[in-house]
Amino acid sequence: MCGIIAHAGADDAVGTLIDGLERLEYRGYDSAGIAVQNGSGIAVHKRAGDVSEVREEIQTAASSGDVGIGHTRWSTHGPPTDENAHPHTTDTDNVAVVHNGIIENHAELREFLADEGYEFTSDTDTEVIPHLVEHFRKEESETIVAFRRAVEELEGSYAIAALVRDEGRVYAARAGSPLVLGLDDDQYYLASDIPAFIEHTRDVVYLEDGDVVVLEPNEAQIFDENGLSVERSGECVDWNPEDVGKGAFDHYMLKEIHNQSSSLSKTIRGRVDPDNGRVALEELDAEILDGVENVHLVACGTSYHAALFGARMLTDAGVRARVFRASEYAKMAGPTTEGTLVIPVTQSGETADTLSALRTATERGATTVTVTNVVGSTAAREADESVFIRAGPEIGVAATKTFTSQVVTLILLSQKIAAELPNATTREDLPELLAALEQVPTHIDQVVETSRAADLASRLLEYDAYFFIGRGMSRPVALEGALKFKEITYEHAEGFASGQLKHGPLALVTSQTPVFGLFTGDEAEKTITNAKEAQTRGAEIIGIGPENGPGAAESDAYLRVPDTHPVCQNLLANVQLQLVSYHTAKQLDRSIDKPRNLAKSVTVQ
Ligand code: G6P
Repeated sequence: MCGIIAHAGADDAVGTLIDGLERLEYRGYDSAGIAVQNGSGIAVHKRAGDVSEVREEIQTAASSGDVGIGHTRWSTHGPPTDENAHPHTTDTDNVAVVHNGIIENHAELREFLADEGYEFTSDTDTEVIPHLVEHFRKEESETIVAFRRAVEELEGSYAIAALVRDEGRVYAARAGSPLVLGLDDDQYYLASDIPAFIEHTRDVVYLEDGDVVVLEPNEAQIFDENGLSVERSGECVDWNPEDVGKGAFDHYMLKEIHNQSSSLSKTIRGRVDPDNGRVALEELDAEILDGVENVHLVACGTSYHAALFGARMLTDAGVRARVFRASEYAKMAGPTTEGTLVIPVTQSGETADTLSALRTATERGATTVTVTNVVGSTAAREADESVFIRAGPEIGVAATKTFTSQVVTLILLSQKIAAELPNATTREDLPELLAALEQVPTHIDQVVETSRAADLASRLLEYDAYFFIGRGMSRPVALEGALKFKEITYEHAEGFASGQLKHGPLALVTSQTPVFGLFTGDEAEKTITNAKEAQTRGAEIIGIGPENGPGAAESDAYLRVPDTHPVCQNLLANVQLQLVSYHTAKQLDRSIDKPRNLAKSVTVQ
């Protein structure tokens, strides 16, 4: 995880670096730091804590410089201390380095460098890098050659940016961790993700593994893995600076919940034709589905729940579909074959477990189509094809709008696949479903404006545990509701298939364990019955269902969603649960956008 940023340009780098790091805090916020070139050498400011704490220190120290690097950390090697904060430097302060990723051979490199007389002051794997650069600088007249030699020694995954004393440039490299170049006339940026510099430019170049970059205030040069200067084509990203700010909201998460109507409109735009019962996913070449016999969806976290939803849609259409936790997939002996379509579902496109599953699928000859939010992401580039969820940047660690857009994208993709595969058929009610999907953005606005989740949350603070139950297509929503709740409230929450409640979890049910019942979709009646079994044992039942649904009368509290197509009811119920989690966490005074121990983009396995 971790986020890195670099800047070279006419403007002072310090403010740019710190603002950029704040936009990258979703990648980790255990410590933060920057290094800038100024008249007297490299000035480094770093400490444990989040970016706002470093900002204060830097403003007090009043460093300035037009070339600099920065880092926000999610700890892997060594606890979140000042010493372990990046940038890491040589003892001579000649080289400063920020790094995202893991250097797997750091122990051997450390031993070698220690034998050479280099002193280490941190527990991190990163600290070998500045020493290696320094070491090779003694042998090479050009720093770029020394930097490249240092990089060649590294095994593992990395995006690195380095400063060298008295050189007004940034040296950077990537292999296995994301790094994007931003171009704005004579200002250049490098970052782990675009939000870090979106307020300055939307023109980006996605760097490739093996690339080395040299940034200067008026020039950015890219060298490929053979050391040859290369031009990489750029793109203008369709994201706005407002997308990465909190606007008038207290938290990114609340903003992103509210913005779901507009992000989902973008997901759907041009892709549904209810009159003809057709789905158009232009970026997907139908020929890629030739010979597909079965489908595997691989994903982690919230994306896994979206994948469960997609798999159910596929199965209902007669497609053989299974969902796997991406972390379990890579080492499984089977059952991927050349007839398997593997769909990695990943918001960031950078989750290490999901990438590993994708690579396993590719090795076994499967066809791969990734469903992701990030156009230049590793998953998008490594898969045979990609379908983009078009949700725009999501900053809150707890995924909200991207789940909704993933589910809808998978609904559309499932019907596209069903239309192409010989033994499958699209849903009979596809025209009605597509018409209802077009209404979901409006319905989301209605839910957000009328939700009573905040009032409900104030009654929910004192319980022991919270259970979420759903059946059929509301089961992934129950699982996602529980995940969201535990992620940001730090309270114990679990989701179950409602039919499974009486096969174990019911033993935990007491008057101190409220049960959220997803009374949405085709199988609501049975979930109501299961919820009543818990209610009989003293649990408070919080139903989520359509306006006049039968669950209303059976519930102790009821959160309403518009009475729409059963599939879409589940999406709206999820929005109610997002609001319940948000307001409960807020009343518990939790760190909502940056929950304890979690990061949004998990780039380690
Ligand atoms: C982490 C995040 C989750 C996210 C999961 C998968 O666990 O905290 O919010 O759902 O990674 O991320 P991806 O980018 O692959 O969807």
